[in-house]
Amino acid sequence: MEMLQRPRRLRGNGVIRNMVRETRISKNSLMYPVFVREGSGIEEEIPTLPGQFRYSPDKLLYKLETLSKAGVPSVMLFGIPDHKDEWGTSAWVEDGVVQKALRQAKEAFPNLYYVTDVCMCEYTSHGHCGILCGHDVDNDKTLPRLAQIALSHVQAGADMVAPSDMMDGRILAIRRELDKNGYENTPIMSYAVKYASSFYGPFREAAGSAPSFGDRKSYQMDFHNRMEGVKEAELDLQEGADILMVKPAMAYLDVVKEIADRFPMVPTAAYSVSGEYAMIKAAAQKGWIDETQVACETAVNIFRAGADILITYYAQELAGWIAEGRIG
Ligand code: PBG
Repeated sequence: MEMLQRPRRLRGNGVIRNMVRETRISKNSLMYPVFVREGSGIEEEIPTLPGQFRYSPDKLLYKLETLSKAGVPSVMLFGIPDHKDEWGTSAWVEDGVVQKALRQAKEAFPNLYYVTDVCMCEYTSHGHCGILCGHDVDNDKTLPRLAQIALSHVQAGADMVAPSDMMDGRILAIRRELDKNGYENTPIMSYAVKYASSFYGPFREAAGSAPSFGDRKSYQMDFHNRMEGVKEAELDLQEGADILMVKPAMAYLDVVKEIADRFPMVPTAAYSVSGEYAMIKAAAQKGWIDETQVACETAVNIFRAGADILITYYAQELAGWIAEGRIG
């Protein structure tokens, strides 16, 4: 039968399949989100995220060693403070949990790259991502607080800050504060396109950061919208963002592609969030899917959509799977 094009020719064996891959994935593009809590000697597994732990700063060091040995180049720190108040004070104090952990971590493992999540929800008694005015999160009152949090992280050693609050104008507020204090070379990775998503459920359990009333829909984006994400990304870029992030990842690959295509001048990061990890774990524990294969496939899918950086709870495992040649 005459058939000039036979796509199967390039799928004949592993060597040729590897040669013609369109998407290459590298350990260098992985970032690991990790929870750090107050105390010492603590390493407690998070029930909603099997295999993920809350570490006290001393125990975090052991995890960082493992990550570093596996070839994961960067971590993103989330703080879980002992004390919460209305204003999220413990987010910016010098001996805050993230600040303490950063100082120790930087000294022990200076070769890792430290990113911090800048937000207030883990630190406020009401669980919202900003300062309240009645039942409303007051955008403009929140901005100086976010700038102060970001500055305190950088002063404690953060290499990059990642604001996740979704207030308008926060990138500019943070950029100005960092520049004013001589940190003009510290990059900002903006959670530019962050949706109000139920995929964050396991994280909120882990961080105790669920809002005590209402939801986050007045500041995080409506998942029906894509072009609004382009607008958010464009504004953040104008305000000085260095990297644009889309979050969640798996169910939002059209958005990842949209942002990567429209803003090729900056890297696009995608955050595969807690609910994505939890779904794979849970189905695998039931024996319904193969965890390794599904996690590998998911990661490659996100890069194929256009992500340059993948933030994932599977970072350490992925680094291993890349080293084994399962994906890459
Ligand atoms: C803080 C923040 C959240 C996540 C990252 N930063 C929670 C939220 O917005 O409610 C979610 C991460 C995940 O689910 O893995 N605002």
